[in-house]
Amino acid sequence: MIRPNAGPGLFLTLEGVDGAGKSSHLDWLTDRLRSRGLRVVSTREPGGTPLGEDLRQLLLQRPMRLRTETLLMFAARAEHLAQVIEPALRRGDWVVCDRFTDASYAYQGGGRELGEAAIAALEDWVHPHLQPDRTWLFDVPLEVAQARRAGAREADRFEAENAAFFERTRAAYLARAASSKGRILRVDATGTLDDVRAQLARDLDKLWEHHHV
Ligand code: TYD
Repeated sequence: MIRPNAGPGLFLTLEGVDGAGKSSHLDWLTDRLRSRGLRVVSTREPGGTPLGEDLRQLLLQRPMRLRTETLLMFAARAEHLAQVIEPALRRGDWVVCDRFTDASYAYQGGGRELGEAAIAALEDWVHPHLQPDRTWLFDVPLEVAQARRAGAREADRFEAENAAFFERTRAAYLARAASSKGRILRVDATGTLDDVRAQLARDLDKLWEHHHV
């Protein structure tokens, strides 16, 4: 089967523990791509569709078993892929998505200690032929993430987790980056917004050269 993202548009995802600051860069990235005349779909997980957004509310607020949580993440993802991501890539649009399956490996697999096997099985079922073309992993030491989370609105089920949870989540992200054969780029997100954007801009230029020569 031809990968649905074999077209001209790229599938870009943003990852990192809560408080790393990735969401502050989503609009900037989208605007930068649009300013080059690209059609860009900007979306997020869990969510991105009406059903997915309802599932997000449940996932962020309602206590549930780890299996249920993991299955609902992938349920929202199946809907998001079918309704939004795959049609966009088929049209040749670029897709910028705030979190995707790497978050399931990091949070459910690492943070909640489910391990990789169950996530890999669901990934293989829900999107066997699709991977992001580029994933930016916004990485900061735990104390920095915690300090950034502190001022935010009321914590959801994930944000309310303890330091050990976020250590495991971050470690799982870094391990994935190390074994991703270059797909996942670690972005040092400790500096100012401008520092982080400079790293993203450099990488976007590289991606651009690679895909549009
Ligand atoms: P997040 O993207 O951080 O949104 P906000 O910036 O509005 O808080 O919230 C989504 C939460 O869902 C985040 O804590 C990580 C979690 N999550 C998982 O645990 N697994 C997943 O597969 C995904 C996509 C998200």
